[in-house]
Amino acid sequence: MAEITLKDIKKYFGSVEVLHDINLTIPDKKLTVFVGPSGCGKSTLLRLISGLEFPTSGSIFIEKRCMNNVPPAKRNLAMVFQSYALYPHMTVYENMAFGLRLSQHNKSEIKKKIEEVSKILHIDLLLNRKPKQLSGGQQQRVAIGRALVRNPEVYLFDEPLSNIDATLRVKMRTELAKLKADLQKTMVYVTHDQVEAMTLADQIVVLNHGCIEQIGDPLTLYNSPTNKFVANFIGSPQMNFLSIKKIGVQKENHSLHLGKNLSINIDIKNIDLQNLSEIGIRPEHMTILSSKKESHLSGIVHIVEHLGSETYVDITLSKDISVLVRAPGTKIFEPREKVGINIDKNHLHFFNKEGKSINKLASFKENISTGTAK
Ligand SMILES: Nc1ncnc2c1ncn2[C@@H]1O[C@H](COP(=O)(O)OP(=O)(O)OP(=O)(O)O)[C@@H](O)[C@H]1O
Ligand SMILES: [Mg+2]
Repeated sequence: MAEITLKDIKKYFGSVEVLHDINLTIPDKKLTVFVGPSGCGKSTLLRLISGLEFPTSGSIFIEKRCMNNVPPAKRNLAMVFQSYALYPHMTVYENMAFGLRLSQHNKSEIKKKIEEVSKILHIDLLLNRKPKQLSGGQQQRVAIGRALVRNPEVYLFDEPLSNIDATLRVKMRTELAKLKADLQKTMVYVTHDQVEAMTLADQIVVLNHGCIEQIGDPLTLYNSPTNKFVANFIGSPQMNFLSIKKIGVQKENHSLHLGKNLSINIDIKNIDLQNLSEIGIRPEHMTILSSKKESHLSGIVHIVEHLGSETYVDITLSKDISVLVRAPGTKIFEPREKVGINIDKNHLHFFNKEGKSINKLASFKENISTGTAK
């Protein structure tokens, strides 16, 4: 059992406050991901849990026991560092065996564990090499292996896949997902990569400038982001945001003016129109139609990106306003082609002037009526 609780954590480096009032519960036997832009404090937060850094104020509990004065070695956790931190004079095998020898495992036990883990990580043929004889991606996998063989209560991973090439990264992600299911241990995983966050996490913590923006399971963050920062960070390609220049309040519909000759008529109820400032819609929640059909918006195809399984189409709605729409890979679009766009009304997001989501206030009638872009 290893639930981790962070209470009112602040961290200063010198006079700079890099973590502000962090309150967070990391559930037992679940994988929690810290995600956020570079410098937002992900590694610092992980290092505080590991005991390699100390909070300036606040407390860290593992299973209700305060860890503030407990040294790293006594916290029963293993950490994979962003910088690998392998022992340069030891072979891969010795690097992996080191922690096990300290905790008095016998030789055959150590050998069995290392063989098992090194196969999973595709480093079984590298066991006699020293770290400097390995590529960055191979060193990173040794660092993961060193943590896995130790079997602690808590695993802390700091961007463990960041130096691995794209193909192996997808494989390793699947392996980590399997390990997570097999090991049933508390894991904290730092990444920049929102796909990794979405696919591995039970719980995602989105950080920005040392503050928590939102905590939730992947689909909650995707479907109900609490603000524009989270809406923008989760989901790939990113959500489209359209500023509302003016709202025409009518009896049945409200007309959201997005630009010159560009508006969407939408039937919204209970929404705080005074504060409505922007709408957000993800590329996968729009459909491209023939320009001859009636549609919510219309525009001109600008750039087409064929990925094979799907196609991303950048469509100009009016001067300075464009949206990215996901279409099936089988569809062919030509640059400069005139198209219509339909919006999935259930997936519209609404933001106020401060960028906070006001979705919860909104409820929709069945149809969005046709808007125009000329
Ligand atoms: N030992 C230190 N001394 C001073 N400032 C530090 C120290 N360690 C980190 N920082 C600063 O604290 C902030 C958070 O750093 P941290 O390494 O936690 O970011 P991160 O989210 O892990 O970034 P990245 O994604 O680039 O690894 C940054 O502004 C960084 O410059
Ligand atoms: Mg980091």
